[in-house]
Amino acid sequence: MINDKKLLYSGMQATGTLTLGNYLGALKNWVTLNEEYECLYGVMDLHSLTVRQVPADFRKNARSLYALYVAAGLDPEKNCIYYQSHVSGHAELSWILSCFTYMGELNRMTQFKDKAAKHADNINAGLYTYPVLMAADILLYQADLVPVGADQKQHLEITRDIAQRFNSIYGDVFTIPEPYIAKAGAKIMSLQEPEKKMSKSDENANATIKLLDDRDTIIRKFKRAVTDSDTVVRYAEEKPGISNLMDIYSCVTGKTNEEIEREFAGKGYGDFKLAVGEAVADELAPLQARYAELMADKSYLDAMIKMNDEKAQYYANKTLRKVQKKVGLTERIR
Ligand code: TRP
Repeated sequence: MINDKKLLYSGMQATGTLTLGNYLGALKNWVTLNEEYECLYGVMDLHSLTVRQVPADFRKNARSLYALYVAAGLDPEKNCIYYQSHVSGHAELSWILSCFTYMGELNRMTQFKDKAAKHADNINAGLYTYPVLMAADILLYQADLVPVGADQKQHLEITRDIAQRFNSIYGDVFTIPEPYIAKAGAKIMSLQEPEKKMSKSDENANATIKLLDDRDTIIRKFKRAVTDSDTVVRYAEEKPGISNLMDIYSCVTGKTNEEIEREFAGKGYGDFKLAVGEAVADELAPLQARYAELMADKSYLDAMIKMNDEKAQYYANKTLRKVQKKVGLTERIR
């Protein structure tokens, strides 16, 4: 709790450009949360190091992610938006927590198995201990709530297990975080393989809408979206492509499925796809304009980064000092 508000913590990796899936599934919903919660959002750059990065591109991507958070509407004066690597407590707590995490637990992580299969030439120890660093991110701020997608649920569970284990030995040190289930938002699927989640690492450019794609590109990708051989715009399990487009259209316009079905009754898929493309392009236009302004105004973003780094460090150090003391590390001499 900070200022009588529950604390909510989340973040995204600083790799690749965010997609419409990241936006509609997470970012867009985060914007409204700071009324009710004290919110912290990290640019998770330490996690990105588990995969080999080109330093200059990586640095650009991290700043771009910061700017996208702000451009999407997260006010950096009301939300603590900061770089994970700027708060050394993440790495320090991660080490301590790794001594309270069993290899057996890490062996069960499905994301590790998937990533190890994908990057067979670089199965490094960081990839393996990735969930411990994530636990440190969350526990360092005594977060009450963590909005995560299905793919991160297992990591939140191990975070809770580690925290409970630590608390059972040393007393109530960590807040046990709960998953935050968003009231709105949808899981957005690939435009080319609608059974698969839209992913920023998809190699097929037509499968994802990037938040910085221009209007023509967006419309073209929607026109090419994979659908079925039927012609009726209707929400149904056996129509994953059309259902996904309806989810997107609904998120952006606020219309219900029934309203959408009525709107496109008697019209073909072509009209519908064009309407979805235009609606998405309209939705993203102000975000893109704001993003361009932010990237051009170095001093504003720098000031926000500095202010929020300090804020995050303050909270992180409080927890870290407590943990160090509890486990018996020698206190600093002042
Ligand atoms: N692992 C998360 C992802 O891939 C990113 C992340 C790192 C995160 N630390 C976190 C999310 C803490 C929520 C809380 O998307």
